[in-house]
Amino acid sequence: MADRRIAVFPGSFDPPTLGHLDLFERAARLFDRLVIGVLENPSKAAALLGAEARRDLIVSELQGRGISADVRVFDGLAVDFAASVGARWILRGLRSAADLGDELAMAGTNREASGGAIDTALIPASPRFAHIQSRLVREIASGGGDIRPFVSPAVAAALREAQVRP
Ligand code: PNS
Repeated sequence: MADRRIAVFPGSFDPPTLGHLDLFERAARLFDRLVIGVLENPSKAAALLGAEARRDLIVSELQGRGISADVRVFDGLAVDFAASVGARWILRGLRSAADLGDELAMAGTNREASGGAIDTALIPASPRFAHIQSRLVREIASGGGDIRPFVSPAVAAALREAQVRP
C-alpha cells in the first residue's frame, strides 16, 4: 500500500467547474488513487454551495464520467488531510501564469509544513477551460447570467436552486 501513488486534490470547488472535472479526469489517470478534498469553509467569501452539496455534485459528475476518485469534505490544513489518506502528493490546477505565484507559495509552504513529506504537482488546465474561475462563475450566477458554458448542467441547476433558496 505504501508504494501506491496517492494524490489529494484540495479546493473550494464553489462551484466545481468544467475545468475542475477535466483536471480530475486527467489526475485520476496519473495516480493510483485520487482523493478530492472539498474545503469545508472557504475563507475567501461565504460559500454559495454548502460543503456537502459541493461534494455530492462532484461525486455524481465523476460517476457520470466513469472517473474513479474519492471525494471527501475536509477542514483544517491540506497537508493534514493529505497525510490522513496516505498521500504524498497534492495536486493543483494551473490556469495561467497569474496562478503561478500563489501556487508556488502554497506548494513550498505545504512542503515545509509537512517536513518535506508532501510535495505538490501542478497540472496545466486544458486551454479550452483555462479562463474558467469559480469566483467569476459565482459572480455571473449572482448577476443572473448564463453559467452553462462553465459548469455541468447539474451544477448549473444546483446554483440556480441555491439562489432561489439562499
Ligand atoms: O479552490 P481554492 O479556493 O483555490 O483552494 C484553496 C485551498 C483549499 C487549496 C487552500 O485554501 C487550502 O489548502 N486550504 C486549507 C488550509 C491550508 O492548508 N492552508 C495552508 C495552505 S499553504
